Amino acid sequence: MAGTRPTRIDHIGIAVRDLDAGIAWHESAFGLRVVARETSHEQGVHEAMLHVATGEGGGSYVQLLQPTHQDTPVGRFLARRGEGLHHIAYGVDDVAATVRRLRTAGIRLVDLHPRTGGMGSSIAFVHPASAGGALVELVQAPD
Ligand code: CO
Repeated sequence: MAGTRPTRIDHIGIAVRDLDAGIAWHESAFGLRVVARETSHEQGVHEAMLHVATGEGGGSYVQLLQPTHQDTPVGRFLARRGEGLHHIAYGVDDVAATVRRLRTAGIRLVDLHPRTGGMGSSIAFVHPASAGGALVELVQAPD
């Protein structure tokens, strides 16, 4: 289990229609601050990370996701369910080892191998069908 057990909630992913409006709301309601903002054409999202706290295992954030266009996973999520909670991300020390362990355990994954996420992280998604209906992301912070 070493390196494959979550050490924290890295972030909560929230789907929004308007990233600027979502950022403004989180800034004014909770005083959160944006620490990174980027576009992933591979994932079809404009995203912003707002820092919440830093603990032993690393930082925790709120991640706001606006689709780059409708025909993307987050675009389809918005069309189906509207704005709101999209995924939960666990921070792990070794995402590749975690993926291997889950695959061996027969747990269904969206990503069979880690890929690059925001802020230089390494990420992989667990399929909601294997995770109690929640989309779960695994995140390993860059060294
Ligand atoms: Co995420």
